[in-house]
Amino acid sequence: MKWTRRTAVAGLGGSLLASSIGSKATAEEAMKLKPPQEPMIIAHRGASGKRPEHTLGAYRLGHSLYADAIEPDLVFTKDGHLICRHDRYLSTTTNVADLPQFADRRTTKPGRKEADWFAEDFTLEEIGQLRARTPVQGRKSAFDDTYTIPTFAEVLEEAEFRYWRLFPEIKQPSVAASLGFDVLAALQPFFDRLNAGKLQTSFMQCFEPDFLKSMPKVKNLNKVQLLYLRGPDDWPDMAEIAKYADAIGPNKSALVTPDLKDSGLVKAAKDAGLKIYPWTFRSDDVPAPFKTPGDEYKAVFDLGVNGVFTDFPLAAFNARRDWLKTL
Ligand code: G3P
Ligand code: CA
Repeated sequence: MKWTRRTAVAGLGGSLLASSIGSKATAEEAMKLKPPQEPMIIAHRGASGKRPEHTLGAYRLGHSLYADAIEPDLVFTKDGHLICRHDRYLSTTTNVADLPQFADRRTTKPGRKEADWFAEDFTLEEIGQLRARTPVQGRKSAFDDTYTIPTFAEVLEEAEFRYWRLFPEIKQPSVAASLGFDVLAALQPFFDRLNAGKLQTSFMQCFEPDFLKSMPKVKNLNKVQLLYLRGPDDWPDMAEIAKYADAIGPNKSALVTPDLKDSGLVKAAKDAGLKIYPWTFRSDDVPAPFKTPGDEYKAVFDLGVNGVFTDFPLAAFNARRDWLKTL
């Protein structure tokens, strides 16, 4: 028998899936068509509480720990490749400062007070010489200097093979455009895979409304308007957002008032037909008055969110399992 992805998947779970979904559907089709469980668990920068963020190790672990979606943040290299980093500067999440061959790349740029090394000054081959490190003090560093910096192309390949649902965020597209990068062209392979039905339904996030408005229509791709909200006076017009996006992604603190009452943001979003995915939940940084990560998840699940960004997907999975039993 010729060994193909289809036979591999069928061999792994075919009989179980066939019995649960009917004999006509293949395992591959069943996995592709699987709608996301809500509230969705989005592995923020991968399982970044357990592995250096934005590495294939973090993404794979996120999927293994039952995340429904994987979140790559995207920035550009000098030669126009999208790589997975939260920031254009590299000192906090890589070993770049230790590599003598790059000592002269350290420079100062607008938006970062300290001198640093910036992704757009490195070719992809040079980025390949770096290794990832966890930026959060107190988190496991045993995997530092183990993983390379993944490209978005690598992530797309894994996502197609492993049936990951993706939640990519393009970082500062207007800055990227001002540096000469063609952002939409760089994302086209992602759009092509979605249009061809090769990826699970996915979600494109951005803080910049103009970028979301400029996107072409892509099959099975939802658009998420990211928001940083300081208080109710800061809320944008949800009906306006609903004209070009499918969801909002606010900072989680905007869900409640200072005295921890429902701020009404979830209802405002839903009344406008928008889904809502707040960020970021961290088992090693649970805000008062919550005592445990589970308490915090339960509170936001009760508010009616459609999903959560979390550095610790297993904790969110366990909290969702317990919460679903209470319904
Ligand atoms: O994209 C959702 C959330 O990740 C936004 O915050 O800064 O972690 O990208 P950030
Ligand atoms: Ca992000």
